[in-house]
Amino acid sequence: MASAISLDTKSLKASPVYPPKITSVKALVESTDFSSLPSFYTFTHNLHDELISDDPEDSIPIIDISLLVSGTPEEQSQVIHQLNKACSDWGCFMVINHGVSESLTKAMIASFQEFFDLPEEEKEEFQGSHVMDPIRCGTGFNPSINKANLWRDFLKCVAHPEFHSPNKPAGFSEIALEFSKRNREVVTVLLKAISKSLGLEESYINKAANFELGLQLLAANYYPACPEPEKAIGIPSHYDHGLLTILVNNGVSGLQVKHKEKWFNVSIHPNTLFVQVADHLEILSNGKYKSIAHRALVNNRATRMSIALAHGPSLDTVIRPAPELADNESHPPAYVELTYREFLELQQTGKLRSKFRLNSEQSKAS
Ligand code: OGA
Ligand code: NI
Repeated sequence: MASAISLDTKSLKASPVYPPKITSVKALVESTDFSSLPSFYTFTHNLHDELISDDPEDSIPIIDISLLVSGTPEEQSQVIHQLNKACSDWGCFMVINHGVSESLTKAMIASFQEFFDLPEEEKEEFQGSHVMDPIRCGTGFNPSINKANLWRDFLKCVAHPEFHSPNKPAGFSEIALEFSKRNREVVTVLLKAISKSLGLEESYINKAANFELGLQLLAANYYPACPEPEKAIGIPSHYDHGLLTILVNNGVSGLQVKHKEKWFNVSIHPNTLFVQVADHLEILSNGKYKSIAHRALVNNRATRMSIALAHGPSLDTVIRPAPELADNESHPPAYVELTYREFLELQQTGKLRSKFRLNSEQSKAS
């Protein structure tokens, strides 16, 4: 393992601000016994961000999706109403009775674990260099974020419209394909109900986002136990860029969402899918539903793994607010029109602020 990292661990003690080349946090922690955090992982938290809520009354909404498919008309409209409240108040919710079997989710988590356990040299083959590469693995160095490394390794695959996955470990591809398909079905049902919850025709979002050709990313995050977790970060606060993201994890918590200016710990139960509103649903809904800020903390007890499935529009469809939600003086269209591909490219090159919201007057003027 140690051979995979081109640094000698003694020099780490007096490590420079700029990090040496590290292929994964996993290899780094396995190569030596850390009692303190290497300095290039020190993350400066924004102190205004530190309010944590422990109010048990204020909890994340739960949606029983089976009622949308097989419930009475009354039950269906009740769930649609709950979705409206969940998306407008919170920007996230838990989904139960969703039909993605617990054994499939467990198999997916185990398969990702096996991928991360591959020798570093074998994983390197899948590193990729461009954000649009269909398979990419790596670790979190982002010089724009406080010059800190993120305490997190990842693997990302494009699962739709074309399915891509690494050819190892054995069985990974088959499980990943099945898992991506089942989760996509859940999102298809949710998008119909969410369209209705906005007062739009059931197929509105599906058509406006050209969801049949929509981009689906299957990503796993691997956060090893960290010697000084309060000084490091897995993923800093951000918004996801698609329409809806589904998240599951291995039973170790660490995800937080921002709600009413406070951070909430999210514990995702084994048979539950955690769903977040992402930027393109915010744009389509003209801001009625806002994407939710979230982040991943790390801990010193156990490795955490999460799987994030990002479901977005098709890359070449221009996304704009639904005219029905942007047709009067009090609700003018509040977002510029871009294809999803343009949005991603602007975001990746730092030309978008973390949340892209320009009113149309500003966009015309600029
Ligand atoms: C992400 C993400 C959170 C987590 O991958 O975009 O926000 O809990 N992950 O790992
Ligand atoms: Ni995210």
